[in-house]
Amino acid sequence: MQQTIVKPWSPQTWRNFPIKQLPDYPDRELLEKCYDELKMYPPLVSSWEIEGLKEQLSKAEMGKAFLLQGGDCAETFADCNSPHIVKLLKVLLQMSFIMLHEMHIGVIRVGRIAGQYAKPRSSNTEQVGSDKYPVYRGDITNSFEFDELGRNPDPKRLIEAYHKAGLTLNFIRALTEGGGFADLNHPEYWELDFMRENEYYNEYESMVKSITNAIKFMEGILPSELTTLKHVEFFISHEALNLYYDSAQTRKVPHKTGYYNLSTHMPWIGNRTRAIDEAHVEYCRGIENPVGIKVGPPYDIKELIEVIKTINPKNESGKITLITRFGQENVAKELPSVIESIHQENLNVLWSCDPMHGNTFATTDGIKTRDFNAILSDIKQTFAVHRDLKTNLGGVHLEMTGEEVTECVGGANGLEENGLKRNYRSFCDPRLNYEQSLEMAFLISKEWKISKDSGV
Ligand code: PEP
Ligand code: CO
Repeated sequence: MQQTIVKPWSPQTWRNFPIKQLPDYPDRELLEKCYDELKMYPPLVSSWEIEGLKEQLSKAEMGKAFLLQGGDCAETFADCNSPHIVKLLKVLLQMSFIMLHEMHIGVIRVGRIAGQYAKPRSSNTEQVGSDKYPVYRGDITNSFEFDELGRNPDPKRLIEAYHKAGLTLNFIRALTEGGGFADLNHPEYWELDFMRENEYYNEYESMVKSITNAIKFMEGILPSELTTLKHVEFFISHEALNLYYDSAQTRKVPHKTGYYNLSTHMPWIGNRTRAIDEAHVEYCRGIENPVGIKVGPPYDIKELIEVIKTINPKNESGKITLITRFGQENVAKELPSVIESIHQENLNVLWSCDPMHGNTFATTDGIKTRDFNAILSDIKQTFAVHRDLKTNLGGVHLEMTGEEVTECVGGANGLEENGLKRNYRSFCDPRLNYEQSLEMAFLISKEWKISKDSGV
């Protein structure tokens, strides 16, 4: 009988592998000092929460729940403030209620927040005129300020990231568990005015009426149990890119086997760092958390299958979320064979769609943007491919914010390219704004219903 020899693993074995997208820290001594400091701090999340999320993702895999994952492309330290956090939370909750109302299944809310500080980049340096400095790799590494000091990779930022993530998560917990913010009875919670011009306004208004009537009805008959409506579950996620951050917070917990990344509930591996023989896959194969894997061009299907088997050797359900990001021009051509290959291997994965990263383009003025219609078309085509193959699309992964930014064109309000500069705030990729996000939630629900009606 052939025996598989499992290679030894520890939170640090990734250091023996080639790694992409990790900054070259000039001060190695300070880096190790910060790493050791980070190892001492208390965890941000618990293994119980992580296991709870895995269980829910396993339900989504079977079509009994839907994953709504979203937030900034690059979270910044400056975003660690009340309005930014409240607005993202609010829009994600509202989207989830729209989806819940339309789909009649549980919606799993996962923010790209409280740790989404590291960014992969296509070049190591940035040049403006004759000045050339290291590229901005997210606030966990360096600053957006374009000068020598700002762009220097600073290990102390790993510690600052931990503190900012902790503060952000603490506020999220207070809002979602404290009983006020998530209380559906709050009238301001359902404010509609900004939607008045939107073609979905009437649908949205009647849906809100139906939800508030249901709450009133329940209040009449079950006053003591209503408290459960005042709490909502919310999880956090980030790209496990700067492995100093993730591995320093990867630990064993009492009464459980294995290691947990206790900095976040759901880390994911980006499209550029999922090579089978490299550090990010090595790190992710040792943790108990559910792991997202982004997949889009370029990819090698055999390698992808190896990566999935390496990270999920027991083929556990709820463990792997495969986040496909092909772009509207390629998805219909490329996604079917990926699904068929994974299916042939009998691998358990939750299929999720990232309609953002395959649909980015630059305007003639050089502004990075995405078109609402392209994003929607990607989602529609992804649903259609899954329908044809009788597989289940169980989630979406969006770059979005609760703020009134002008970063993506299109949507019911018809933002045009010449309006992008009005409030373009992203340091990295363009996000759906508040109204575009709510509208997208409606449209996703409609596609989901078409799949259900067709028997998938
Ligand atoms: C991202 O999610 O911001 C990202 C960089 O995506 P991808 O790895 O899919 O390119
Ligand atoms: Co992005």
